[in-house]
Parts: sequence; structure tokens; C-alpha cells
Amino acid sequence: MCGIVGYVGSRPVVDLLIGGLRRLEYRGYDSTGVAFFSGQTLQVRKSEGKLENVEKLLQADATRFADARSGIGHTRWATHGKPTTQNAHPHEVGDVVLVHNGIIENYQDIKAELARHGRHPRSETDSELFGFLVQDELDAGREFVEAMRRAFGKIRGQASIVAMCRREPGRVVGVRNGSPLVVARDPSGGVLFASDAQPVLEYTRDVIFLENGDVAVGDDSGLRILELATGREVRREATRLDWSPERLDKGGYPHYMLKEIHEQPVALIDTLNALLDRAKTDAFPMAPQPGVELLAKARELVLVACGTSYHAALLGKYWIESLARLPVQVELASEFRYRDPVVGADSVVLGISQSGETADTLAVIRDMRARGVPTLGVTNVRGSTLAREAQAVFYTSAGPEIGVAATKTFLSQCLAMLLFAGSLGVKRNPAHRARVEALFHQLVKLPHLLESALEDQGPLTQAIRNACGSVQEAKGFFFIGRGTSYPVALEGALKLKEIAYIHAEGYAAGELKHGPIAMIDDQMIVVVLAPRDAWRDKTISNLEEVKSRGARILGVGASADESLRSLCDFWVPVPDAMDESLLPFVLTPVMQLLSYELACLKGTDVDKPRNLAKSVTVE
Ligand code: M6R
Repeated sequence: MCGIVGYVGSRPVVDLLIGGLRRLEYRGYDSTGVAFFSGQTLQVRKSEGKLENVEKLLQADATRFADARSGIGHTRWATHGKPTTQNAHPHEVGDVVLVHNGIIENYQDIKAELARHGRHPRSETDSELFGFLVQDELDAGREFVEAMRRAFGKIRGQASIVAMCRREPGRVVGVRNGSPLVVARDPSGGVLFASDAQPVLEYTRDVIFLENGDVAVGDDSGLRILELATGREVRREATRLDWSPERLDKGGYPHYMLKEIHEQPVALIDTLNALLDRAKTDAFPMAPQPGVELLAKARELVLVACGTSYHAALLGKYWIESLARLPVQVELASEFRYRDPVVGADSVVLGISQSGETADTLAVIRDMRARGVPTLGVTNVRGSTLAREAQAVFYTSAGPEIGVAATKTFLSQCLAMLLFAGSLGVKRNPAHRARVEALFHQLVKLPHLLESALEDQGPLTQAIRNACGSVQEAKGFFFIGRGTSYPVALEGALKLKEIAYIHAEGYAAGELKHGPIAMIDDQMIVVVLAPRDAWRDKTISNLEEVKSRGARILGVGASADESLRSLCDFWVPVPDAMDESLLPFVLTPVMQLLSYELACLKGTDVDKPRNLAKSVTVE
């Protein structure tokens, strides 16, 4: 949550900060601000609402600030205090100006202590209090870097802070302790700071992912990294990223989300290439990497995740149990971390997180490591905290995902799950070898099949658009499915709530009669996922139950399934004749496009839905 950007060097900083914040807006967008030195004068511009508001504030003075060369910026996802201009970052306290991502847990103690001395912050945030701590150190005669280090020693919690000081205008200091922070050397001289690599890629692909407890100092003499605890200089290697800046733009689509839905075939190809050894011709040949061995040793897998990643974990359970006959538990990280779970001696805990920064998922991984349980991660972000803290990591290769709603990262996570299932299946379950081999041959063709299915004027996309025109006024939606269509139904309901703000529930179709069916009337749309698989006929019985109670049915099934089609008010055909393990890969884009079209009809902010942020770094 919250995006930080900072710079000191030879480039005009105001444009750089605004461009960087635009890349980071997905991390939070309820208020924004920048601070920079124009000559020796500190300027702060901030506003509630989106980045445009700050841009307007700056327009009047654009030429006046063309000389500014050092600054920091922030886009906020509110935790402490409402999303107002007063609570927006940067916060200015005495000589100090700062931006913060994370939570200062002992903020109430700090605030009480300040109040005892008659000192009162202007905002309701925990972040501003840190400024008082630094100012106290400056007043005690310390230099800025030392003051930052000492002040950090007085706070608890997960926080990354980037700050500047009036006494040393050409210096930017960033501390990472929990929330992610990257730094990079600008090839034309200077130092870049950001919450993730995206704002930096425009200038360089060599990025340093700071460790917890690192202090990065950028000034005339370049970049230095110090240990927070001792102040000693440390060496950190840069990671070369393969994400090109062009992949961060909308590429002609009206929204990032739509672009990312259409990028799914490529995301699948790239993830296949990253996780498999494509030089081999046998089924599911995992590319050699440390995680493969750990996975093979597991006698039970515990999959832990949040939100959409949790749905990928649910699909993983179906596939891994069926193809590899390995027991799998699926857990919501936010619950698992506060239970006292029983984890078997031969279990492996695998955290799934596209961002690799989700606080609850990370907490589980840390806790399990502390208990000596082997841990794995699946993430889309190189250098993310999950990648560094799990014992071994598998990377999906969906490329940068800017839309807050997860789309291509979800399908890539699903692919990772299926690859684990197939490769474990080959080793553990010789009886199913022929089935696994046949599945693999279909799997490698899947990206092409999906690409054709997603064609803009194709039958699938047209059918979704037609249906959306008629169902947009519905009171609510139920998404139902059985087997692997059940997690897809959950994902469909989450997407619709998330970007279209329409009430939706996802259910295992067999559960409806145990209560939720009482909600059904002619104002309700039931989206029935009934592709040709082992569960189709049972799902159709559930369709009949809700239809007879007045629900309007939006059916999603095999294109040639005329008998299912005849039962539906609206019909979306998906490609037929494939191994049923692959069906979630064609059903999911239907869920994504349905939500996308309905959100567009409602006129919501598709890429930045209200109240959300892309990486949820607070619990
Ligand atoms: O980065 P993660 O995959 O760990 O994120 C988990 C959830 O916050 C995320 O999937 C969320 O539910 C998305 N907004 C879904 O579109």
C-alpha cells in the first residue's frame, strides 16, 4: 500500500516525480503529494484525490520549478486518518519532510509523549510523528543521516520512509524496514528511490532491492547504502530486470485491465518458458531450480494466499490432488497466521502472491520458517519480499500488472499450480502417466487457443457484450460452478464486486440449496459455469433449481452444448474439446470480461477501483 518515489540528480525532478507516481498509483490513490527543493527553498504540493489534483497545483508554477533537482513523492492508501489533503504525504515537520509506506505501531505512545510536551501534529497520520523524532535528533546536533537512523530506532512496525532535510537540500535518505523500497543509480548521474521497480525502469533496468534494515543515501557523491543498526556501509548488488518500459503503457487499450486480459496468452507462454525446461520433450519437465527439489519432497502441501491468489490456490488443490495424489490444504493467510495450525513433519508451506508483498502471506512464511517448516513462494515480482524470504521461489512471468484487479497474474499463478500438479503427477502417479502426457500436449497449445477465444469481435467477446447490456440493472449476481469451476465462480464474483461495485456471491453450485437459494428471484442473475466436464450434469440440476425460482441464467459452457444453451437466458460459449483441467483457463477470461464490461457500463474507475490497492502491505 502507498507508493513512494524519490530522486536526486541532474534531471528536472518535478516531472520525474509525477511520472513515477503515475506508475505507482495502483498502490493507492486516495491522496497524493510531492516535495522538492527549488534552489534552497522547500516546496510541498499535496492534495486529496488522484494525482491530477497535484498536477493542477503544479501547473501554475511549472517553469519556476524547472530547476528543481531533488524531491520525494507519495501516493496514499489510507491506514491512519481519512484520505484528506492534511493527511496526504509528504509531511513537513521543522526541517524534515518525509513520505512513508507501512505502519508505525507505537504511534499512540509517540503521540502521547509529544502531547506531554505541548507538541501537536497537524495530521491524523502515524507517518508525521516520525518527522518529530528526526527533528529532535537534528536539534540535538546530529547530521541528517544519523538523525534518521536514530529516529528509526524509536519506532516499531513495518515502515519504509524516504525523507529530505532543509539543512542538507541535495540529499535524499530512504530506510527500508518491512515495506518494499528499491533504489537505482541513474545512468546520467543521480539516485532513484521507489516502492517498486516500475518508476525506475524508464531510466535503468538495474535495480537494487533494499534489504530490511538498509539505509540508502543519495546525494552529489552518488548512492551509499548503510546498515540501519550500525551505520556501516554495505554492498548490495543490482538485479537486472527484463521488464521493458513499453510494457507499462496501455498500448492502445482504454484500460490497463483490458490490455492485461488480452496479454494472458503471452503471460502463459512466458510462464511456461520460465518454469519448464523447454529443451525437453517429456511431459511437465520443470526447469531445474531449488524449489523443484523441495516440492518433490513434500508429503503434504499447504497453500496460503489472499484474495485472487487464494482462488489460484483452490484450483491448485483440485489439480495437485487429482494428478499427483498429494494431499493439499488451502488456507487464507489472514486466518492461518493467527491460528495455531498443525503442520505435518513432511509438509511444505507455499505462499502465493502476485505482488510478493502481501503482509498476511508474508507473515505466514516467516512464522513457518521460524518453526523450521520448509517454505516456497510463487510470485510475479522479482526481488519481492516473498521471493527473498521463502526458502525457494517460483516466478510467474506475467510482466507488470498495473490494473488493480488481478487478471494475467491470476492465470499465470493457475498455470504454475497446474505445472506443479503435472510434474509431481509424472513422478508420483505412474498410473496416470498417459493422462498427464495427453494433458501436457494440450497445455502447450492453450495460449494460442486462448488468443483466438479473446479476439475482439469473436463469439465469446460479442456474447459477453450482448449479455452485459441486458443484465446491468440486476439486483445482484450469483456465480455458481462445481469442481474446478467453483474457484472460477469465486473469482468471477470477486472481480464483479471489485471493479463494478455490484453485489455478487460465488458458490459451489451444490451449496445453493443450503441457504443462499432463498435470495433467488427474478431480479437475480445466476452465472452458471457448466463446461463439459465431470460435473456438468450436476451443475445443470442446480441451474434448474434456480431457474424454477425465477432467476435469469447467464450460462457459460461448451460452444456446441445446445442443450445447456436452451436453458439459458444469456449464453457465452467457450472453446470445447479440451482436457477438463484446462477449462479454468478459458472460463476465467469470461469472468474478467464480464466484470470489465459491466464496470464500463457503470462508468467506474476500472483500473483504480475505490478503496483498493494493488499490494496490500498492511494486515
Ligand atoms: O499480491 P497478492 O496476490 O498477494 O494480492 C492478494 C490480494 O490482495 C489480491 O489478489 C486482490 O484480491 C486483488 N485485488 C484481486 O483482484
